[in-house]
Amino acid sequence: MEDATILDFEFEAHASPVAVADREALLQNPGFGKVFTDHMVVIKYSVEKGWHDARVQPRGPIQIDPACAVLHYAQEIFEGMKAYRMPDGGAALFRPEANAKRFRDSAERMAMVPLPEELFLSSVRELVRIDRDWIPNSEGGSLYLRPFMFASETFLGVKPASEYLYMVIASPAGAYFKGGAPSVTLWISEHYTRAAPGGTGAAKCGGNYASSLIAQAEAIRNECDQVVFLDAVENKWVEELGGMNTFFVFEDGSIQTPPLGGTILPGITRESLLTLARDAGITVREERYSIDQWEADARSGKLREAFACGTAAVVTPIGRVRGRETDFTIGNGGPGILTEKLRADLVAIQRGEAPDPHGWLKRLF
Ligand code: PLP
Ligand code: COI
Repeated sequence: MEDATILDFEFEAHASPVAVADREALLQNPGFGKVFTDHMVVIKYSVEKGWHDARVQPRGPIQIDPACAVLHYAQEIFEGMKAYRMPDGGAALFRPEANAKRFRDSAERMAMVPLPEELFLSSVRELVRIDRDWIPNSEGGSLYLRPFMFASETFLGVKPASEYLYMVIASPAGAYFKGGAPSVTLWISEHYTRAAPGGTGAAKCGGNYASSLIAQAEAIRNECDQVVFLDAVENKWVEELGGMNTFFVFEDGSIQTPPLGGTILPGITRESLLTLARDAGITVREERYSIDQWEADARSGKLREAFACGTAAVVTPIGRVRGRETDFTIGNGGPGILTEKLRADLVAIQRGEAPDPHGWLKRLF
């Protein structure tokens, strides 16, 4: 068996990559998740060979058997991270080790074979170096990286698979919300929950997103941007959005976010903002917050701001919250001062425009 942590990548260059002028046009306004780079990473796992055949190859369709386990039992996980253009023209990743660690944790929860963290990191580095010209230079632009892994064994038995395929694709990204969304309106999901204690809420597995879609569709039907999920036991405590964690900012200047405990995703943006807030001397609480309290505090003015955060959405103000019998505005419905400050502080570090006291940026070139 090869030493999986130091696999060499075989490189097959794309025979007809996107022409420079076309690429530049695509990078003008890439949106989110629609435009892809020329190459992708593929690494295989089998019980006999371990991790093997690490390749960076032209991006394109892959063939899988109709009995491929993931198509039936959804043994699949993914990550989301970004490469940023640095002021000197180089590029860096933000806290990639945290994504590698979370990928491992997700694999363990889904009874998958964990990818060695060093291999995760080298795979991402290889792809970004090769597709470096796809990192947007535009303000707010970045190269979104999507490492993922699925059960690739051809077998209909219900058991942890013995073969996996790990891949990384890359997608230049602008703002996640159309129009940059100065603030979003949330829809409270009253019927559907995202994750129960003992379930997979803390893992970044595709199934969590599949089960969130009906609630997200309900949000859109009700003219809201995103759904906010409550806990599955009491249907009372605010957990997170379909793809973002939540924060609350109070009149005394303190901030609060729901605690990790297995039912919400341990966001790397969440953890970074907690650290930046503590650095700034802000009182920070990781405590449960009920939807009724949220409404009461928004109405009394005790709650000044609320925001959602994640890799794709960065920091997005929550302006309004609606439900079947609820409708309230937070602050003046627009971005709040502390939200804007935390966003600016985080983005400045991510883009190499401010000192990085925690060593979060990892230069690629
Ligand atoms: N919660 C969910 C359900 C997510 O999908 C994401 C996005 O990755 C987050 C929170 C935020 O996590 P991170 O800040 O690591 O991107
Ligand atoms: C991310 O922020 O990376 C996410 O995964 C959110 C969503 C696009 C799934």
